[in-house]
Amino acid sequence: MDSKRYPKVTVVGAGNVGASTALLLLLKNLADVVMIDVAEGVAKGKALDIMHMRSNERFGPVICGTADYADTANSDIVIVTAGMPRKPGMTREDLLDINAGIVRQVIENAMAVSPDAIYIFVTNPLDVMTNLAYRLSGLPKQRLMGMGGVLDTARFTYAIAEQTGVNPEQIEAMVIGAHGEAMLPLPRFSTVDGKPISELLDAEDIDQVVENTVKGGAAVVELLQTGSAFYAPASSIVTMVEAILSDDGRVLSTCALLEGEYGIDGIYMCVPARLGPEGVKEIVEFDLLEEEHARLVASATSIRASVEVLSL
Ligand code: NAI
Ligand code: 2OP
Repeated sequence: MDSKRYPKVTVVGAGNVGASTALLLLLKNLADVVMIDVAEGVAKGKALDIMHMRSNERFGPVICGTADYADTANSDIVIVTAGMPRKPGMTREDLLDINAGIVRQVIENAMAVSPDAIYIFVTNPLDVMTNLAYRLSGLPKQRLMGMGGVLDTARFTYAIAEQTGVNPEQIEAMVIGAHGEAMLPLPRFSTVDGKPISELLDAEDIDQVVENTVKGGAAVVELLQTGSAFYAPASSIVTMVEAILSDDGRVLSTCALLEGEYGIDGIYMCVPARLGPEGVKEIVEFDLLEEEHARLVASATSIRASVEVLSL
């Protein structure tokens, strides 16, 4: 424990993803955390429980729980996990209307007290909620992004590691596109120790790895029965926070605004992006094959259609 000043991160939603994110931020000594939830007791109770760990884990920053946005004022980063999780049999799109209402309310309240923060949206359906947030908030595109691609990439990396028997650290992989069934894992841009996975796996195995990636979230939902994944999502959010705070030049699959990159305009979707203290510093354009590009455009079209049905 020390008197160092840490960045201030607000986590909206003290549910499974929000609380796991808060815990990791503290254990990694990354930020003081304010966790806010309409269920005030849940936010306060989980924050107190985490503070009780402090003497064991010896982390420096602190956490508090609240239902009052005044406590979140002047945050450096605001992470929005408030919403309903996906239940068995539900698609992410089923959650559209209910979570859109929640996102609207969160933006209004959080931006009133933290207008200069970087906002990371997590609530599903991720692509639609991030587009909605951009349209409602008026935030500059650099300071508003969504988390989906880092999680999908983590699942792709896990699937490659399982299939090849190597450690995940030896793998570089990338998943772009929509955070959903239409995601686009990119085997051509995925390597083990610098070697393309096509040199290590046959076409059938690569298809299997891709399928395991796309179905990764649903597999967790089927097993849990009471909600969706939260440990890997939290770790993926914290990976983005680390990249922003450290300015280490990392390129992560980020739900970011495309303005002509990849030939797509005016829509948020997951693409490789360099993150840093200003938020999204740069979108990195991979040299996609015609078929890969067509699938990315199809993802953009379907996200756009879902955004248009929302009454903004
Ligand atoms: P959860 O149900 O455990 O937690 C949601 C929390 O949001 C609850 O504590 C609830 O009280 C709170 N909440 C609801 N309305 C609120 C409001 N207006 N203001 C503040 N808090 C509010 O759900 P979980 O598992 O934490 O998931 C949260 C969201 O994240 C869901 O929409 C889920 O689908 C999404 N998700 C997205 C991922 C991604 O990769 N983008 C990965 C995993 C989950
Ligand atoms: C996931 O991919 C539900 O979006 C969440 O696990």
